[in-house]
Amino acid sequence: MSDYEPKDFFTDLSVVTDPYPHFDELRARCPVHPAKHPGVLEVTGYDEAVEIYRDNEAFSSCNSLGGPFPGLPVEVEGDDIGALIEQYRDLMPMSEFLVTMDGAAHSASRGLLRRLLTPNRLKENEEAMWHIANRYLDEFISTGECEVFRDYVSSFSNEVIADLLGVPEEDRPEFREKLEEGKSLPSVEDTEKVLSHNPLEYLHQRFAAYVEDRRRAPRNDVLTQLATATYPDGSLPEVDEIVRTSTFLFAAGGDTTGRLITAALRIVAERPDIQAQLRADRSLIPAFIEEVLRLESPTMSDFRMARKTTEVGGVRIPAGTTVMIHPGAANRDSRRFPDPEELRIDRPNVREHIAFGRGNHSCPGGPLARVEAKVTLECFLNRTTDIRISEAEHGPAEARRFTYEPLYILRGLAELHLRFTPVG
Ligand code: HEM
Repeated sequence: MSDYEPKDFFTDLSVVTDPYPHFDELRARCPVHPAKHPGVLEVTGYDEAVEIYRDNEAFSSCNSLGGPFPGLPVEVEGDDIGALIEQYRDLMPMSEFLVTMDGAAHSASRGLLRRLLTPNRLKENEEAMWHIANRYLDEFISTGECEVFRDYVSSFSNEVIADLLGVPEEDRPEFREKLEEGKSLPSVEDTEKVLSHNPLEYLHQRFAAYVEDRRRAPRNDVLTQLATATYPDGSLPEVDEIVRTSTFLFAAGGDTTGRLITAALRIVAERPDIQAQLRADRSLIPAFIEEVLRLESPTMSDFRMARKTTEVGGVRIPAGTTVMIHPGAANRDSRRFPDPEELRIDRPNVREHIAFGRGNHSCPGGPLARVEAKVTLECFLNRTTDIRISEAEHGPAEARRFTYEPLYILRGLAELHLRFTPVG
């Protein structure tokens, strides 16, 4: 066993740049290990992460986004803090969104979301995606270069969600502008400040206006379906509830999917062998995307609060502990995925990865994210004859320079500069 001193995941930028040695060290010592930050346990083992995700009795999602910030405002005593969590739930960041809810409130909200993300709507959305992707590619493809995040991915993933929710075409440029202005996720450097205000204010106002308008004067459009969607028991939700459910999709699905697409394009550009395989056989793209999700899981940390004193992986977890699950660490656990650091398009159990979480809160946007990544890769491959990393920006193959967003919740490149040869 090494003398590894755990790094502070909330403040140490070196972990953000390359978290995998840290994950491996912790997992080798114990897959449920105390973090440097007091009162927090880091979970790097696959079985342990899945067990926690599935145990909604012992673990609450109240802190799923904020983790230990701000934490409960009182000393915790006893082996069951369910009542305390309910008392202070509203103090937790994003407490109004389903990702932080528990029990019946969560089920109702999740049921509403299922009525919005119907198979029909997803299918129409996929058709629109090809046009949206090609429209953004039209803006830069002939130049032979792009910066993926700025030129494509942030606008693409937000517009896909705007389309899914039926935002009218004429309003989309304003959405694009506003969503690019504000980054919504807590950074290592500025966690509490960022969490203390609600960055979704603009979206909230727009969607409240849409829903009220469509309830007053229904039309034959997706926003009317959204405005009149009911809970599973048939009751009509408050306008606010519809608005929260809709706007949260931008926060949950924009940056995450953007990181997946960027990671996939980086590998395509970095690995001519993989690129050739995908060019020769597009049907390999979905399996490739699963392997990217496993290897470069965009959600780096996901939190739970121990509601009851319990035990996972032989480790006692006292009530009140913040549990920090690292899906990207679990997805590189060699007990589940042999030679975990190797990219294998034919890995037989790749779909067991937990990049989209597990259990009641597992990501309802997974199918959408997968299609967004597939459509993007196909469009990039169709419209180029080769794709390369820009050496001017990222250095030569043997000494690449990449920078990562200083976020502890998400893992993703801050920039990816590509060069390519356009078709025709
Ligand atoms: C690669 C892209 C994505 C990744 C890696 C991802 C990851 C996750 C993870 C790990 C969770 C579980 C959180 C928890 O258990 O605490 C989650 C929940 C969620 N995701 Fe995603 N997500 C992605 C894309 C999307 C998209 C495109 C949407 C929407 C259109 C979306 C909407 C949601 C929502 C609403 C939840 C909360 C579900 C609940 O609490 O019941 N996600 N996501």
